[in-house]
Amino acid sequence: MSSTLVTGIGELVTCDGTGEDGLGLRRDAAIVVEDGLVAWVGDASAAGSDAATTTDHRIDLAGRALVPGFVDSHAHLVFAGDRGAEFAARMAGTPYDGGGIGVSVAATRAATDDELRTLVAARVAEMRAQGTTTVEVKSGYGLTVEDEARALRIAREVTLETTFLGAHVVPAEYAADRAAYLSLVTGPMLEAAAPHAKWVDVFCEPNSAHAFTGDEAREVLVAGRDAGLGLRVHGNQLGHGPGVQLAVELGAASVDHCTYLSDADVTALADAADTTVATLLPGVEFSTRSPYPDAAALLRAGVSIALATDCNPGTCYSSSMPFVIALAVREMGLTPGQAVYAATAGSAKSLRRNDIGHISVGARADLTVLEAPSHVHLSYRAGVPIARALDLAD
Ligand code: NIG
Ligand code: FE
Repeated sequence: MSSTLVTGIGELVTCDGTGEDGLGLRRDAAIVVEDGLVAWVGDASAAGSDAATTTDHRIDLAGRALVPGFVDSHAHLVFAGDRGAEFAARMAGTPYDGGGIGVSVAATRAATDDELRTLVAARVAEMRAQGTTTVEVKSGYGLTVEDEARALRIAREVTLETTFLGAHVVPAEYAADRAAYLSLVTGPMLEAAAPHAKWVDVFCEPNSAHAFTGDEAREVLVAGRDAGLGLRVHGNQLGHGPGVQLAVELGAASVDHCTYLSDADVTALADAADTTVATLLPGVEFSTRSPYPDAAALLRAGVSIALATDCNPGTCYSSSMPFVIALAVREMGLTPGQAVYAATAGSAKSLRRNDIGHISVGARADLTVLEAPSHVHLSYRAGVPIARALDLAD
């Protein structure tokens, strides 16, 4: 058994649900980690006299803040190719409609397994260097039976939170026969993907020729559920639509984007707050010049919210949870504390995980240290790389 004592924690943000914004703040704290789990949390002054003194290693944070490792519950990391020109065109006024996904599909299909593996590993390392300790990874740039299964196999090498997104768009070769593609996704593709996936997801967007209508999305989700997968939905990104209501009706763990919400959508999400989390992706509004949803109003209504990057080549090629936190504070009305909670405990809830997203005895010791005295600096010092996952082997 290996054990580490972490002392000198100027501000410990436990996100245990207590206190202001659920942050469960402690000053001048210490923790003990045993075999990757939090074994003790207490005052630094007690650490000297407690059983904590018998630990093998010690790390002194010298007054820095410690927060739960960020949980990035929505990311598309398995892709090749470059769409920088599409971003530049969008900044000059070309709207996003999902059509660029086909560019990434072609490049991803053409890549070797090792090329994809290298790209995914680099993106995960980039995330960890910014404080993310759990990431969900979707397929969705393969869109053939073999390419979707391959994407999920590669994703599984870096995370257990893998999501089958064969219903990302209708690929060009099926443009004239959507029904045939839907049969493929809900049949042989799902069968090949399911052994490597925990979740199924669908891009439900009735106003895009590229995405799936409410009825089509229902078929995909029900088939996924029958194959034993949990449900996630891309909904209400490009305009008002049925995604949120469908997610709530089917008891999905998460409905993501929620850029355009009606009053009825907000009420449905509030009523379903124990089951369905609204995952907000402000990096997407930033990168597509879209209006930001009002996260503060969602919290007031009683909705469970999470924050994630949506790291992908089209709508947000940022892997940075601190960037997302800063945007949520500046543009969505959250307090710095609410944003940190949504990026940790909130995101963990959207993955139906209670072993991550908080620092409490028995939880995984996924810890992120800030080069700062408090969590407020995550949004106060926007753009400055102050967060990193703590390597306990250090
Ligand atoms: O979550 N909207 C659907 N999928 C991604 C974007 C994918 C892309 O443009 O490559 C998203 O925003
Ligand atoms: Fe996405």
